Amino acid sequence: MNTARDLSAASGLPRLEARMLLEHILGVPRAWLLAHDTDPLDPAACRRFEHLARLRRDGHPMAYLVGRREFMGHDFAVTPDVLIPRPETELLVETALAWLVDRPESAVLDLGTGSGVIAVSIALGAPQATVTATDISATALQMAVRNAARLNARVDFAQGSWYEALPPRARYDLIVSNPPYISRDDEHLGQGDLRFEPRGALTDGANGLRDLTTIVNGAVDRLRSGGELWMEHGWDQAQAVRQLLMDAGFKNVTSLRDLSGIERISGGSL
Ligand SMILES: C[S@@+](CC[C@H](N)C(=O)[O-])C[C@H]1O[C@@H](n2cnc3c(N)ncnc32)[C@H](O)[C@@H]1O
Repeated sequence: MNTARDLSAASGLPRLEARMLLEHILGVPRAWLLAHDTDPLDPAACRRFEHLARLRRDGHPMAYLVGRREFMGHDFAVTPDVLIPRPETELLVETALAWLVDRPESAVLDLGTGSGVIAVSIALGAPQATVTATDISATALQMAVRNAARLNARVDFAQGSWYEALPPRARYDLIVSNPPYISRDDEHLGQGDLRFEPRGALTDGANGLRDLTTIVNGAVDRLRSGGELWMEHGWDQAQAVRQLLMDAGFKNVTSLRDLSGIERISGGSL
């Protein structure tokens, strides 16, 4: 009979990945797995492991295989209906939470919420804020609703294209978004994890600035005076996004660098 150790060694996967798959399949924590490394496993668990290991060798992202990804210390469910949350997006949430410290009762809007990581993390970190989140994708929104419920976060959800999802008179103190910003011709779309993620979450189908432009221009009518807009963007888009913000009349326009030193988010105030 196969043991966790045998399966891991025969899988051809890095040991950590094999362990993560086994933890997921057996529903046990890492410590249990280490202590029971040589216990015989039931045949159904072995078959399930071999199936997931094959998918992993074919390049399927770990997050989709185990159905979860950690973000801001919270455990989010993810499926191929949503973008896999990226660690660099935590900068957008940290910036929002820092702004909310002095304005805890603000109305916050997250455009293109995907799995809900930004909206849910803000709602959990600033419980007095009123958080609304939108997405054009019904299946993504279902995932976000599920994550908000699992994590006990109070978020209102609305489906539709950018500001069209919202009541015409709705106004916000803070708008945040991590929109699709990869150019439709970018070769990375055919590489790595991106091959398995929803195309509509990655690219705007244009030059990468189309959705960012829509979000900036629409924010002018949706932000209250003194309100702020912050967006994540590509490593080479900071200058263009700052220009969009200045052209739209934003003040104090700035970009902030992520842990790799890349200008990752840009924003300004009205
Ligand atoms: C880059 S993903 C970000 C997901 C999530 N906020 C995150 O940071 O992990 C962009 C999201 O925008 C959504 N989206 C794409 N086009 C949209 C549109 N026209 N209106 C609203 N949301 C849209 C996608 O469905 C996707 O969930």
